[in-house]
This record gives sequence, structure tokens and C-alpha cells, in this order.
Amino acid sequence: MAEADRFWQLADDLQEKTVSHAKELFSYAETANPDDLLSLLIQYRFFTIYYIPDIAILVARMRDGQLRSFLADILTDELGNGDPAKAHPRLYDDFLKSIGAPLDLLDDLAVKDNIEMLQGIRGKLIDPRTSTAYGVGLRGMGGECVCQVYLSRFHEHIVKNPFIRQRRADVDWTFWDLHVGEHDIEHRLKTRQLIDEEIVSRGATDIVELEQGYRESMASWSAFWSNVFASVKSRNVQRVSVNRAVDWRGTAAGALA
Ligand SMILES: [Fe+2]
Repeated sequence: MAEADRFWQLADDLQEKTVSHAKELFSYAETANPDDLLSLLIQYRFFTIYYIPDIAILVARMRDGQLRSFLADILTDELGNGDPAKAHPRLYDDFLKSIGAPLDLLDDLAVKDNIEMLQGIRGKLIDPRTSTAYGVGLRGMGGECVCQVYLSRFHEHIVKNPFIRQRRADVDWTFWDLHVGEHDIEHRLKTRQLIDEEIVSRGATDIVELEQGYRESMASWSAFWSNVFASVKSRNVQRVSVNRAVDWRGTAAGALA
């Protein structure tokens, strides 16, 4: 189907563009001093915190099928398969702690622009006027397919940073081992295959909505990292508090209201 081929070509191009757009950030991560590197890396924790409820919303809205079950599997993985100590935001915090981040202060360091953006994405996922094809483009596809490629490249540069190299053996790499390894590559390919079978194959309307979600997802992903980069360069950016341990009223949703 020509329409499907066009879509996947576009998805590949957009992904490549998004990753190459980040070259400056990546090379910065390679040379940044320990404080700047930490303040850069801390921000990604907020992305992992938002990802879990977003996938849950997507699963709640989808029709039955392999893609729905597969996203639920991803959700289970994200939650640590029954062990909260292995939930991905927790593993990411373990990584941050192992490179010297003050864990008890992290909740208050979220860049406000990014939390507003993540809240906006969540609002769209919940909005009954949006379709699930759009939601999959916005969160299912972007989160699974591109993050993996992006994180792998990011990781290549982080490990070259002198501060990280010095303490490499003491760093808790569990989060990274899960996200740059075979397991995640498999996830990315499987996500693509199921999106192809269950959404792209449904035809033009679904492809248009999937594409719209995906374009927005790539734009926000780039904006997310640009904001992070700007927050490291200028420490005067506004921050809000995000606490994953309390219900939504106590999170940034409340802080921004
Ligand atoms: Fe993850």
C-alpha cells in the first residue's frame, strides 16, 4: 500500500531529523562539567515519570488487539513487573544517585516549560475528541520507537564524558542497559510491526491521525531537549515540583493549575 510506505518513510525521516537535531546536545553531554551534566540528565527523569500514566491512558482508550496488549506489556515493564524497585523512573533515579544527584531535591527541579508541555500532551491523550490513532502517534510510537534510538545515541556520548569515565564502574547502569540493549530494540521493532498491522492498515484517515500525533510527538521531544539544554545554560529558568509518589493533585498538574 503506497500510503503506508509513504508514512513509514516519513516516520524514518522525522526520526532521523530529530536525532540529528540533537547533535549539539549530545556533544555537550560528552564534555560538560559534572554539575552541568547532572542538571542535564536530571530532567529526563520527568519524562519517564509522565510516560507511565500516559501509556496507561492509551491502553484504557484503545480497542482490543495485539497492540493494546503489547502496550500493556510495556506498561508492566515500565512499572518493574511487580517490583517497584525496578520501575523505570526508579532505575533512572538510581542512575542519577550513582553519579551524585541529591535524590531528595530532584522533585523540585523540573523545568516548568517541560512539565507544561507534558501536561499538554496528557490533556490531548485524555481529550475524547482525539482518536486512538493520534494517541498512538503521540505517545505509543514516539515513546517506544524514537526514545530508544535517541537514548542509544545519548548513551554513546555520556559514557565518553570524563566525569562518567572516571567512575564508570560505580555508576548504576541498569536503566541504560535496559534501554539501549537488545530488549528495547525488539520493543521498537515490535511496536512498528503492530502499528503497521493494526493502524496503518486501516487506511487513510487513521494514517493521517497517526501522522499528526507522531509529528507533534517529535516536535515536543525536540522542544523538551531544547528546554533542558537552555536550563543548563541559564540557571534562571522557572521550575516546578513533580512528585511521582503522590496522586495527580499533588503533582505538577496541581502546581500549574
Ligand atoms: Fe523505559
